[in-house]
Amino acid sequence: MANNINRREFIKRSAATGAGAGLTLGMNRRTEAAFNNTDSPNGRIAIGFIGTGARAHQVMGDVLKLPGFEVVALCDAYKGRLGHAAELTKGRAKVYKDHRELLAAPGIDAVYIGTPDHLHKQHAIAALEAGKDVYIEKPLTYTAAEGLEIIAAVKKTGRILQVGSQNISAPSQIKAKEIVASGRLGQITMIRATVNRNTAGGAWIYPIPPDANPETVNWEMFLGSAPKHPFSLERFFRWRCYEDYSGGMATDLFVHVMTTIHFVMGAQAPDMVTAAGSLYRWKGSRDVPDTLDAIMQYPEGFTVNLSGTFNNQSAGERGIQILGTKGTLTLGRDLIFTPDYPVEDNEWIVDSWPSELQKAYYNDPKVIAAEMPRRWEPKVIEGEERWGSVGPDSTTLHFQNFQTAVKERKQPVEDVYAGHRAAAVAHMINWSAKHKKPVYWDRSRDNVKA
Ligand SMILES: NC(=O)c1ccc[n+]([C@@H]2O[C@H](COP(=O)([O-])OP(=O)(O)OC[C@H]3O[C@@H](n4cnc5c(N)ncnc54)[C@H](O)[C@@H]3O)[C@@H](O)[C@H]2O)c1
Repeated sequence: MANNINRREFIKRSAATGAGAGLTLGMNRRTEAAFNNTDSPNGRIAIGFIGTGARAHQVMGDVLKLPGFEVVALCDAYKGRLGHAAELTKGRAKVYKDHRELLAAPGIDAVYIGTPDHLHKQHAIAALEAGKDVYIEKPLTYTAAEGLEIIAAVKKTGRILQVGSQNISAPSQIKAKEIVASGRLGQITMIRATVNRNTAGGAWIYPIPPDANPETVNWEMFLGSAPKHPFSLERFFRWRCYEDYSGGMATDLFVHVMTTIHFVMGAQAPDMVTAAGSLYRWKGSRDVPDTLDAIMQYPEGFTVNLSGTFNNQSAGERGIQILGTKGTLTLGRDLIFTPDYPVEDNEWIVDSWPSELQKAYYNDPKVIAAEMPRRWEPKVIEGEERWGSVGPDSTTLHFQNFQTAVKERKQPVEDVYAGHRAAAVAHMINWSAKHKKPVYWDRSRDNVKA
């Protein structure tokens, strides 16, 4: 196979794709002032962090480098991380007792929400109602029904909300969307995707900081409205392992994949989801599955086959393959287009015919053009195309997308609807695996069928 690798650079990227569903947007006085530069000294977005955990630290690293933002406020339920985040801002951000105090403080335009999943709805709605624009981590929700409540709050308040599956702001995923829309893949009827890991850290058994104890960890603040449970450092620092706070693999990892698939395919939600899975290996550390296999059927005419395990990674760690009649698009470290050259080969059938008929068949120019029996020269198969990424990382790009949305008062690329629907698929996968039944989407309610 000729390997004609064409490595392009993705320095330029599309502007905000405007995937929003036309919400009515408003500005509060401070935001207006900040962006028409009448009384804002620097026109920057003053942002507060609700949750300064592991992901928030990564995000803050990027946001602190972005010229359009100023990190002005922080709150968290564990002193160690709060202190470290405050250091990162060189003491410029003010530390607040909790999200309520932070949201009541003057001078904050927007918030980043990086708390555990079961707190997302509470923190998002409180922030929207306090007049803040919101960048919230994936998954938007802890249950599918919460999505509708957050959508209603965005509509009511007219604030901007971006959900944090940052990969869809990566140039490779924007390019993938263009390739799919161009028809270059032919008819797409299947997508295969996988997310596999085989380490304790990959399975969320994270190290617990040695100074964590009931004095440094605010257990009640962490619990929120979750079921009461005695103080547990495992639950606090490894909350993804427990259904009380998380949907496990589906809401932590599959939600990124589903966001990408919806974005690239221009799809909203599947008609049906069916899944199987269980906790086979990491027993004693969790109550969520470590292995999940899910099938989604989309009204656009394709199925998605999405699997994940924490018990192997040599079979392929992660990636998405979009399978079309004219080629495969693989989204992994690079974006790869591999052309499909289906060549007919009916030799074993025709060889059983009477000799005269065989001869006539093989002399037919149409057959010669279409088939590749052993006696003819193999067709030349042209090579694949591959694109690698350069430039800012996807979190920076996703935040810049949020920044543009805040300034232009237009919903960003991963608006509340996109976040709701991708998370809802993850909830459907969990429900189906648990109940061993298919589950359906109700388009009229924009939610799981009751
Ligand atoms: N976009 C991505 O690639 C990505 C990557 C990792 C995590 N995430 C998401 O980010 C979120 C946080 O994940 P993480 O890995 O940083 O977890 P984490 O446990 O490291 O951080 C969560 C933080 O929230 C704090 N917290 C708990 N209750 C709080 C409350 N009531 N008020 C304020 N702070 C509170 C905790 O003390 C902790 O510091 C999750 O929703 C997760 O799914 C996204």
